[in-house]
Amino acid sequence: MKNFLLTGMLALLVCIGQPEIGFAQIKTAKPRAGINTKAIVTMGASDRRSFDNDWLFSRFGLQPQGTTIPEPQGLEQVAVNDASWQKLDLPHDWAIQGPFRMDLAGETGKLPWKGIGWYRKHFNIPEADRGKRIFVDFDGAMAYARVWLNGHYLGTWPYGYSSFRMDLTPYLKFGGENVLAVNLNTEKWDSRWYPGAGIYRHVWLVKTNQVHIGHWGTYITTPEISKNAAKVKLAISVDNQGLIPVNALVSTDVYELNASNQRGAKVISAKRSVIRIGAGDSVTTNLQAFIFHPKLWDIVSPNRYVAETSVIVNGKVVDIYNTPFGVRTLQFTADKGFLLNGKRVAVQGTCNHHDLGALGAAFNISGLRRQLKILKEMGCNALRTSHNPPAPELLELADQMGFLVWDEAFDCWKHGKKKLDYNQLYDEWNEKDLKAMVHRDRNHPSVFIWSIGNEVMDQRDVEMTKYLAGVVHEEDPTRPISNGYNDPDGGRESGAVVALDVMGVNYFFSQQPKWDADPRYKNKPTIGSETASCVSSRGEYFGEKEYQNWQISSYDTAKPGWGCSPDEQFRTNAKFPNLLGEFVWTGFDYLGEPTPYGSDETNLLNFRNDPSKKAELEQKLEEMRIHNPPSRSSYFGIVDLAGFSKDRFYLYQSHWRPELPMVHILPHWNWAEKIGENIPVHVYTSGDEAELFVNDKSMGRKKKKPDVDYRLIWDSIKYEPGTVKVVAYKNGKEWATDIIKTTGQAAKLSLSVDRTVIGPDDYDLAFITVKVEDKEGLIVPRSHPLVKFIVEGPGEIVATDNGDATSLISFKSHERPAFNGLALVIVRTKKGMKGKFRVKVNSDGLEAAAVTIVAK
Ligand code: GAL
Repeated sequence: MKNFLLTGMLALLVCIGQPEIGFAQIKTAKPRAGINTKAIVTMGASDRRSFDNDWLFSRFGLQPQGTTIPEPQGLEQVAVNDASWQKLDLPHDWAIQGPFRMDLAGETGKLPWKGIGWYRKHFNIPEADRGKRIFVDFDGAMAYARVWLNGHYLGTWPYGYSSFRMDLTPYLKFGGENVLAVNLNTEKWDSRWYPGAGIYRHVWLVKTNQVHIGHWGTYITTPEISKNAAKVKLAISVDNQGLIPVNALVSTDVYELNASNQRGAKVISAKRSVIRIGAGDSVTTNLQAFIFHPKLWDIVSPNRYVAETSVIVNGKVVDIYNTPFGVRTLQFTADKGFLLNGKRVAVQGTCNHHDLGALGAAFNISGLRRQLKILKEMGCNALRTSHNPPAPELLELADQMGFLVWDEAFDCWKHGKKKLDYNQLYDEWNEKDLKAMVHRDRNHPSVFIWSIGNEVMDQRDVEMTKYLAGVVHEEDPTRPISNGYNDPDGGRESGAVVALDVMGVNYFFSQQPKWDADPRYKNKPTIGSETASCVSSRGEYFGEKEYQNWQISSYDTAKPGWGCSPDEQFRTNAKFPNLLGEFVWTGFDYLGEPTPYGSDETNLLNFRNDPSKKAELEQKLEEMRIHNPPSRSSYFGIVDLAGFSKDRFYLYQSHWRPELPMVHILPHWNWAEKIGENIPVHVYTSGDEAELFVNDKSMGRKKKKPDVDYRLIWDSIKYEPGTVKVVAYKNGKEWATDIIKTTGQAAKLSLSVDRTVIGPDDYDLAFITVKVEDKEGLIVPRSHPLVKFIVEGPGEIVATDNGDATSLISFKSHERPAFNGLALVIVRTKKGMKGKFRVKVNSDGLEAAAVTIVAK
């Protein structure tokens, strides 16, 4: 290994572990002219373009209304007449438009996602591309994908959450029309939540030369980091799919990368490694670099770099590949918790499923970005991708916005929780799926823990745990491996946890001191991989009661048997300061799993290790089946399905952002039928003390006991209409104020929009909140007027919602009632159009409202 510094160079790359062969024969490529340094850097190969547009779709097997259409044979053949198939652009979720059906399981959203889908795409590849390799990359297809080109079978990838590549080259017609056919089958899949159905993530067409960097072919690590320098190691795999051996010169330049994914200054001058690659072979070369005075990635300043790797053969650049990465250190300790760049960071995370509410599973970056902004605002600093690998864009956003990510592979291993679970795939696919996750995601600085599972039935299995952890470690030894245990004692007793670097505990912390003392586990860092599971419906308050009308009171105390309130979890965290932190179940409400109104078996699974409780729950479940609740989405979210914050948002914010002056009062103050009755008032504040006033009369000043109280409660306030005001204090000084008022009747609608200017393509969305207000402009709680949505101009409605988990109105509907004063409409630009469009909302007897969106 050579290692030398050149005067005046900011940093340098040297080749390690590779013979420097054939150097003299290879001419240096000319620098490429006209590189636009402002260009947006996209990850991966340089010729990678969207393949989302202009697909044809047809559905067989189970239909939305419950009938069945037999699947014809031979739909992969070129000659199939697909003229009448539905034209669409991806990502596509074939079930999200519904209808919601009472006969379908609440657990998977009462949506008709089971079926057999065929997608076909006709496309041309120019004659000029002959000699190239042409690939299609699927970010995710639900489920059991099988792919054909021009009638030839290319392959399969059954697990709907994995990303995969298909090589089209052998059967491609250059200079002519090609037909790509994809078959998906969700009838062969079961789920504990709404999985979606279809090609629900992006698809890419990638063109390379015969010699090119492999799929996910770069792996960047930063094994030594100091203030002065970071050692950057790059393992680069180059494939030679050509017919003759080649000498390939591999070089990498590293640039700064800004938050908008634009390349900045170059920080490393490239050095080369020359490798010989036999025909049909793949060779990995290792380069090493030093970035001097590295700008570290962290959750406050998510600084990044991009490695631009070139492959040169016979003096010609044959491939360029971008790998964004970050420089940071991760330490997981049993006593000091998690250290990011040497500083303790308490993990303030949320678990989330992959659906985007009314958009369904169809991935949309505007939808995800909106969610992450809301979570950031709350003080959330970490995401758990429960219980599967996410869309790749989640990691890109997490890198850019400064989130840590617990990247999770599976909800089950060899033994399923459902009949048609991953258990069907485990033997053949576990290694392939794990490798797909790690290879795709291991350059992201945000990924800090790999998780091999969630509450898997085999969690006590020592050999299986060791084996799966081994597969991941082999592919990435730089991050710890964990597993979410709902039977943490069982996992530790059996010794399975020994194979893990971090112990993941879902809910059950009571035995923590015992395990902290056990010689096998006393040095095992532990994290709350799933906590709380508090349930609530935005804007619903039932006083003493927690459950009513299939809704749940928002005093944030209701929880299932295995869960706890946020406050109880905060107390636990304070008791065990050695824990790394927590991932709350969940940040957002999601489709499916409407616990405790699930009339299916999900709730039972949580007690599979406690037979006495199982019997009790089975009875409850039976009663639930008789009542058949309309609930079709969860109540666990801190934020509702439409993206509106529940009260809990402020409880987490008060604890997670102690420096932010804030105070929040609940409930609302519209209780005309309860004059003189007791209405408990709860206050969430980042202060330590507060005084409550009702119509200017003080109701007393209350102080939090440190590590015990996380809310202040006035539980005997006699209701009288008017104003409730709270003044919060911190260290004796006034800190923040909140006021709520009894409102008048609903008089008008008003709109607020997250962005008034959106991009030209139909992936860019604007989220418009509709508020039902009285004539003073106060939002009227408990108001549910029917709102109608109209768009004029080159825009269109994508979906509407209101956050009500019991609503069976399709998300595609252009009218729906507000739920407790709020509704949501999601709009986009019509395909291929530009200009201004107006979104209008009206409701009988209320003043209408409108907003203009500019489509650039
Ligand atoms: C956990 C499980 C989650 C979800 C949650 C609801 O046990 O891991 O997927 O079901 O319970 O509280």
